[in-house]
Amino acid sequence: MASLTIRKLDDALKAYLRLRSAKNGRSVEEEVRVILRELADAGTEPTEALGAGSLAVTAPAPRAASAAGGPKVTLIIGGGIAAYKALDLIRRLKERHIQVRCVLTKAAQQFVTPLAASALSHERVYTDLFDAESEFDAGHIRLARDCDLIVVAPATADLMAKMAQGHADDLATATLLAANRPILLAPAMNPLMWNNPATGRNVLQLRRDGVHTVGPNAGEMAEAGEAGVGRMAEPTEIAAAADRMLRPPQPRPLAGKRVLITAGPTHEAIDPVRYIANRSSGKQGFAIAAAARAAGAEVVLVTGPVELDDPQGIAVMRVESARDMLHRVEAALPVDVAIFAAAVADWRVASEGSQKLKKTAAGMPPLQLVENPDILATISKLKEKRPPLVIGFAAETEHLIENAKAKFARKGCDWIVANDVSPATGVMGGDRNTVHLLSREGKDVTVDSWPVMTKEEVATALVSRIARQVGTGS
Ligand code: C5P
Repeated sequence: MASLTIRKLDDALKAYLRLRSAKNGRSVEEEVRVILRELADAGTEPTEALGAGSLAVTAPAPRAASAAGGPKVTLIIGGGIAAYKALDLIRRLKERHIQVRCVLTKAAQQFVTPLAASALSHERVYTDLFDAESEFDAGHIRLARDCDLIVVAPATADLMAKMAQGHADDLATATLLAANRPILLAPAMNPLMWNNPATGRNVLQLRRDGVHTVGPNAGEMAEAGEAGVGRMAEPTEIAAAADRMLRPPQPRPLAGKRVLITAGPTHEAIDPVRYIANRSSGKQGFAIAAAARAAGAEVVLVTGPVELDDPQGIAVMRVESARDMLHRVEAALPVDVAIFAAAVADWRVASEGSQKLKKTAAGMPPLQLVENPDILATISKLKEKRPPLVIGFAAETEHLIENAKAKFARKGCDWIVANDVSPATGVMGGDRNTVHLLSREGKDVTVDSWPVMTKEEVATALVSRIARQVGTGS
């Protein structure tokens, strides 16, 4: 069997794979395996995706649901008696805060009017492929792309046959052929038409093409005295199916796990008005806390003074000094994972002035410094209650990996996240970070270098790695 050498792929593809693998917390090789598995599961021939000798991921990227105003659906209403239920479907989708833009086929207009669809959707309704107003900028492409999902309800036997064959002779079929968004069909037809082998072949083909279906249900037909499978699914069912596709339940691999995170700087008082501090913003630690929460963990965040709001659903403990931070951390044990992202001051003044220090003729007051407790090292070396996974950070301004390796050996933690914080990188206080994850394989230290990412992306990637180590897989 042929082997694939990642090194030989073109640069853009390598960069894409590196980013995707880092975000998912996998090695590049693992990521390629996952992509191939996904393609196989979707029924895509790996050769189609691989092209001649190179790896090209051709599956359309699912669009993140539009943020403002909720996700968008293009609803194509086909021509069947069930079309009247499509009006209720518009309402059901809107109840779920989904924006709806309707396309009516010519046949659909025999059952419902564009005016009714427009009144319910609060949007202009589209009916004609050759409408000068909407087609001057290829409106069918916009209808196909400027949405998060296309729903066809009712999907008639004829419409599905045209889709299966790739016809594009009206606005609905042209939109469907131009689509690079997921498609959900709600078939509706007479039971004999549904059971016809031609319809069966078309439905099979469409499912192979990645199209989703909801229904049809069994029940009475509009035709007097006829019953069987062919009734369109109820609007509430279709809306629920659309919602599941638009907002799939998030995996919660850290459900049932307790994660402790330290963040921000510490302030070490010199006197009642002055203190020793550093430039840490706390953004990376807060992002990790939010990502761990999103993964289902119970999160305890102990932070030094920062200008950040409490992330939702997280118990935040705000402290000043390294010693306060250590007390809070100890009180939070036991935990399953402890991540020490705080930039703890290494030193504090030996005796804090009870009054503001004054300038005197004798010159500067001597500031004697003593070492702060090392929270990471203390927790890593605990005999009892040591968290099963302890992660430290190494913020360095020179010899990054060398210094991080030395710190790794010294602190006794399980992983170290090393990052270059020299002023030119803009990491301190900035929104992006370039990190290297140091872990151990037997006696060897492995270094995984991640590409530059936002602090949120670093957090998500780190949490995925953590989930693989300690997660429940749920
Ligand atoms: O020794 P250094 O400060 O570079 O070590 C960095 C790592 O150790 C970070 O994970 C930081 O949160 C942790 N640390 C700590 N307590 C200290 C100093 C550092 O937990 N007093």
